[in-house]
Amino acid sequence: MRTIVITGASRGLGLASTTYLYHQGWRVVAAMRSVESGLEKIRKATGAKADDPRLVGVKLDLTDPSSIVSAAAEIENRVGAPDVIVHNAGLAAAGSAEETPMDVWQQLFATNLFGPVALTKALLPGMRAKGRGRIVAISSQGGIRGMPGISTYSASKGALERWAESLAQEIAPFGLGVTIMVTGTFNTEILTEQTPDYGDHHGPYAKVYDGIHTTGRAFVDKAAAPPAKFARALAAAIEDDAPIRRRTVGPDAVGLYYMARLLPGNLVHKIIQMAMKIPGKDALRVR
Ligand SMILES: NC(=O)c1ccc[n+]([C@@H]2O[C@H](COP(=O)([O-])OP(=O)(O)OC[C@H]3O[C@@H](n4cnc5c(N)ncnc54)[C@H](OP(=O)(O)O)[C@@H]3O)[C@@H](O)[C@H]2O)c1
Repeated sequence: MRTIVITGASRGLGLASTTYLYHQGWRVVAAMRSVESGLEKIRKATGAKADDPRLVGVKLDLTDPSSIVSAAAEIENRVGAPDVIVHNAGLAAAGSAEETPMDVWQQLFATNLFGPVALTKALLPGMRAKGRGRIVAISSQGGIRGMPGISTYSASKGALERWAESLAQEIAPFGLGVTIMVTGTFNTEILTEQTPDYGDHHGPYAKVYDGIHTTGRAFVDKAAAPPAKFARALAAAIEDDAPIRRRTVGPDAVGLYYMARLLPGNLVHKIIQMAMKIPGKDALRVR
């Protein structure tokens, strides 16, 4: 029986993935901030009984270093070294770089980067000793290219990707590998008012936000895919064998990935500006 740890299993892509992989026969360690309510949701979705050994709930708050240490110890005690860790839990925030408060920058980096790094550090000795295993980092289009209006999120996902690439080089000799999943738009609460907006919509960036919000909302309404589709893609990704593999999930992620790789940076900037209806160069300049 193979064991997978999924962080942020309480809802969204994590809940869909936990449910799908449980049905695929995996023993799933569902790591969540609220274990009781999370497990209840997962049991409802999977039909798992309270004493099912293939569903293990572990408390984890990625912004709390002591919670990470306890979670790693509990995982090792209950299931041993996992075969796969999926760094799925994540947090987003909207607002320009200038208007997003520094404590929000810190919270996003704690959740999206430092937490995953610390959890991996705690579980790696066991995984190295086992001689096989995979770390999956859930990134985003914002991790390929810094996107306007979500610079905190983009910067944290970009950093997560660079960390995952370094890690892959270091752990491949021990039989371990890394997959980066560049995720497109999926229908979860991260795309709703659940994500706080720190932008002042009547301030200097109002026209920048207008374009981003109107085009973004229209795109989400049209293109957001069901989380079950992501879960199926994840099930394929955890079977990767190469030391490092980057996968794109969803047509928008594929499109941006190739655009950012193939076109010059200033052209990508222009395309994003036009697609998001952001005022052009000098349009808001104070003369
Ligand atoms: N949906 C998309 O379109 C999309 C696109 C690109 C990338 N992604 C990435 O996919 C991943 C899953 O996102 P989602 O769409 O499923 O978002 P979501 O529905 O908002 O779920 C986020 C999950 O992260 C957990 N979480 C947040 N802060 C945490 C913390 N401090 N400690 C532990 N868990 C924490 C949440 O737990 P609580 O229930 O306790 O809040 C929740 O389970 C994220 O990494 C996100 O960046 C999503």
